[in-house]
Amino acid sequence: MASIDIPTRTLNDGHEMPWLGLGTYPAKGRQLVEAILAAVESGYRLLDTAYNYGNEDAVGTAIRESGLPREEFFVTSKLAGRHQGKPYVRDGFSASLDRLGLDYVDLYLIHWPLPKVGRYVESYEEMLALRQEGLIRSVGVSNFLDEHIRAVVDATGVVPAVDQLQVSPNHARVDVVDEVARHGTVVQAWSPLERNSGVLEHPTVVGIADRLRITPSQVVLRWLVDRDITAVPASTNPDRQLLNADIFGFALEPDDVAAVNAIDVGAPVKQDPRTWEEF
Ligand SMILES: NC(=O)c1ccc[n+]([C@@H]2O[C@H](COP(=O)([O-])OP(=O)(O)OC[C@H]3O[C@@H](n4cnc5c(N)ncnc54)[C@H](OP(=O)(O)O)[C@@H]3O)[C@@H](O)[C@H]2O)c1
Repeated sequence: MASIDIPTRTLNDGHEMPWLGLGTYPAKGRQLVEAILAAVESGYRLLDTAYNYGNEDAVGTAIRESGLPREEFFVTSKLAGRHQGKPYVRDGFSASLDRLGLDYVDLYLIHWPLPKVGRYVESYEEMLALRQEGLIRSVGVSNFLDEHIRAVVDATGVVPAVDQLQVSPNHARVDVVDEVARHGTVVQAWSPLERNSGVLEHPTVVGIADRLRITPSQVVLRWLVDRDITAVPASTNPDRQLLNADIFGFALEPDDVAAVNAIDVGAPVKQDPRTWEEF
């Protein structure tokens, strides 16, 4: 099978992160191991997991079964809500590391800010201590809006390397993304394909795909790159994994980027970071 050379981008702490990675939710067990092994053959090196996905063990198994050196991979995991707070961060992180069977992660994110709980700033401080110890290469956040990033930067002076946010054609979130990127934080899109719930049949997306002789998924994923946004689309299907990664040999024209942006008619995201709670 063909292999794509997925380019990397430099984070604000100097580390390199692939522009595109493999989302792993909700797959688990042997199905996920096989999916990751296929993705690695297609050129994927970034694997996106989380304590709450219950699949870090499969990610670690796949890394070992790939036969590639661990340093070839860029592994992301996330601090669950239940582990927020200074006394709990280290235990949550250690549990992830044990499940992965690794001695460091490349990127560790606070999964959700949970502002009503009010512990994300101290959690971030504790993650910076783990970075200092070499257990985390890059410290980042997920589902953080401008106000949450400001709070951690005000407390620590350290700008998150990455903010993983829900971004897709129906939730283009141009203002949110601009505010986050202005800090020097790389935005990474989750659910970029909206879980294949209709956006890949949207006439604007299909029209661009037909004209450029590419697939609708490639239109959406390239639209993100052209907005300077990285992404972690999930697929357990080797053919779709390859298609999704094959977006670095072309670019969309600014008019096409604007047309996809216009699909967003302002419907709010269901999981609003100001109120969403999961532990
Ligand atoms: N930080 C957070 O709060 C957060 C929240 C949600 C998700 N995430 C992360 O983001 C990743 C991606 O998000 P997601 O899984 O919710 O949604 P997604 O990547 O938008 O969509 C995945 C779904 O789309 C299908 N698909 C993939 N490529 C396709 C293609 N080319 N054509 C048609 N269908 C295709 C997949 O099916 P097949 O497997 O059959 O191909 C799968 O059902 C997750 O896996 C997870 O790692 C993070």
